[in-house]
Amino acid sequence: MKRLNIDLADRSYEILVGRGLLEKAGEWVQAIVKPSRVVIITHPSINLLYGEKLSSGFSRQDIPTRILEVPEGETSKSLEQAEKIYDHLLEWKCDRQTVLVALGGGVIGDLTGFIAGTYMRGVPFIQIPTTLLAQVDSSVGGKTAVNRPLGKNMIGVFYQPKLVVADLETLKSLPEKEYKAGIAEIIKHGVIEDAQLFEFLERQFQNILAHDTEALEHIIATSCAIKASVVEKDERESHYRMVLNFGHTIGHAIEALTGYSKYTHGEAVAIGMVYAAKLSQLTGRCSQDVTQRITDLIKNFGLPTQLPDLKAKDMIQSMYLDKKTAHKKIRFILVKDIGSIEIVDHVEETIIQEALQG
Ligand code: NAD
Ligand code: GLY
Repeated sequence: MKRLNIDLADRSYEILVGRGLLEKAGEWVQAIVKPSRVVIITHPSINLLYGEKLSSGFSRQDIPTRILEVPEGETSKSLEQAEKIYDHLLEWKCDRQTVLVALGGGVIGDLTGFIAGTYMRGVPFIQIPTTLLAQVDSSVGGKTAVNRPLGKNMIGVFYQPKLVVADLETLKSLPEKEYKAGIAEIIKHGVIEDAQLFEFLERQFQNILAHDTEALEHIIATSCAIKASVVEKDERESHYRMVLNFGHTIGHAIEALTGYSKYTHGEAVAIGMVYAAKLSQLTGRCSQDVTQRITDLIKNFGLPTQLPDLKAKDMIQSMYLDKKTAHKKIRFILVKDIGSIEIVDHVEETIIQEALQG
């Protein structure tokens, strides 16, 4: 097992990455927070696969444990769903020492974190991510949110978990499409901060696609370390944390304009990274070689690299709604070299248009 630390003063916590960790989570949670009780929030299908394994560890610590199921899908990240859970917690007389445990992907993690950050003005919560995307990205860093019809992730709080437990065993049941969505975020981490990780992905893509244990543990732990170091520098995204959004400005526009159904978030980000690289090249920031390596790596992992049939003008319109947009200027995260990135506050619409058509 690899143990990483995210250093955020009194909000610091550990990220544990390894195999067979679900059963032991009860022990670690008991040592860190001494809960009066635990409420595990998960989807029915995840409960069936891993609920018993996880809750038996809490029972062994004599911690009263309940499991709350929410339906799968992005629509569960809603205030309506949060209200239902608040009511259950109140009915069960959950106090401030109640620990909420998110068992699932980013949907469960974001929803549970939001509830933990707001129920009784904050109760402790634990992230037990079961998708690759959640293990390398959403479970670390304390961004929590629910959606509104006019915008995704628009209602939320920064609220850090007390512990992250990434059990690689859970990835065995993950559909391949979801696995690849997580790979996209790992590629992103290589591009923004770590040329060695990027080169490792270039060399090892076949092993990673075959779920090789050692390669997987290495890229998950390295990704978590990169994310942790970015969050340590700028927890509340006042500036530097925006680098984590490489590929997301265009990716979010693709997701929004295709109704959040054609692509997984990771696939949209994969296409977004290719076009962000093209834009970087067009604005003289990176060489053709950098764009080519990013495109080739994404292709090698079987992720999409081409924009669907969308109008550049509609995409630009959608980008104005991005949370990073400031003073009506579309902000881009552009690449200078593999492992080196720049936050660019404004790019002319004509150049964005050219990149999207290129
Ligand atoms: P998800 O949570 O919807 O999970 C994808 C699917 O995989 C679901 O159907 C889920 O039930 C299933 N699943 C989960 N674990 C499984 C397993 N081990 N075996 C089989 N099936 C499993 O999607 P996601 O990609 O994990 O997360 C996407 C969400 O994360 C979005 O809402 C996005 O906004 C959010 N996000 C948040 C952050 C952050 O920093 N907070 C970062 C990135 C993404
Ligand atoms: N996924 C972007 C962030 O955590 O800031």
